[in-house]
Amino acid sequence: RRSPCIHPSILNADFANLAREISRISTADAVHVDVMDNHFVPNLTLGLPVVESIRKTTDLPLDIHLMIEDPDIWAPQYAELGCESVTFHAEAAKAPVRLARELHAQQAQAAMALKPATGIEPYLDMLGELDMLLMMTVEPGFGGQAFLDLVLPKIRRARRAVDDLGGEIAIQVDGGINAETILRAADAGADTFVAGSAVYSAEDPDAAIADLRALLAR
Ligand code: DX5
Ligand code: ZN
Repeated sequence: RRSPCIHPSILNADFANLAREISRISTADAVHVDVMDNHFVPNLTLGLPVVESIRKTTDLPLDIHLMIEDPDIWAPQYAELGCESVTFHAEAAKAPVRLARELHAQQAQAAMALKPATGIEPYLDMLGELDMLLMMTVEPGFGGQAFLDLVLPKIRRARRAVDDLGGEIAIQVDGGINAETILRAADAGADTFVAGSAVYSAEDPDAAIADLRALLAR
């Protein structure tokens, strides 16, 4: 099993002061950046120009979560900017295998996300193309929503499938992760934890990250 990683989401950070906000999560394993296009999800955040600026302001790895239509066209452009990991949604990708290979060709890690009601079974045969599988534990679109326990059985199935392949593929959870829910996700098999409001609503985001790590180290 991979050692646990914390990827704070900047969705709930102050967008007018992103450089300063990112400097408050210096102990993170990566910065989770939520890209939304107002079509795949009913919300709009930021795109390539802002990610290009974020790239210049931090040495932390960038974990780009694309909640957009046409990731086949857009995802490789985030890889080209030097983002370490790019996640596209299974529900939006027209050719997920080809897209994963294109991301690898651009030296980025390839990840695929599933909304809470999307089954994992149709994708089991392509798991080996991925570096990470993202199980959404809320409906994508907004921060601050409640963790959906109904996703836990799917996380357990993903853990079994990943272990069958040697356990190298990360299993990320995103949505409603906080001190109260993180161990349920970890016990089901997640090893990479996105936390937005739990980190950025804290007075000291780095201290909030340390608190989550302490829970996982039990
Ligand atoms: C939701 C985003 C998440 C969001 C998580 O669609 O993908 O990354 O920022 O926020 P919290 O942790 O507040 O649920
Ligand atoms: Zn996200």
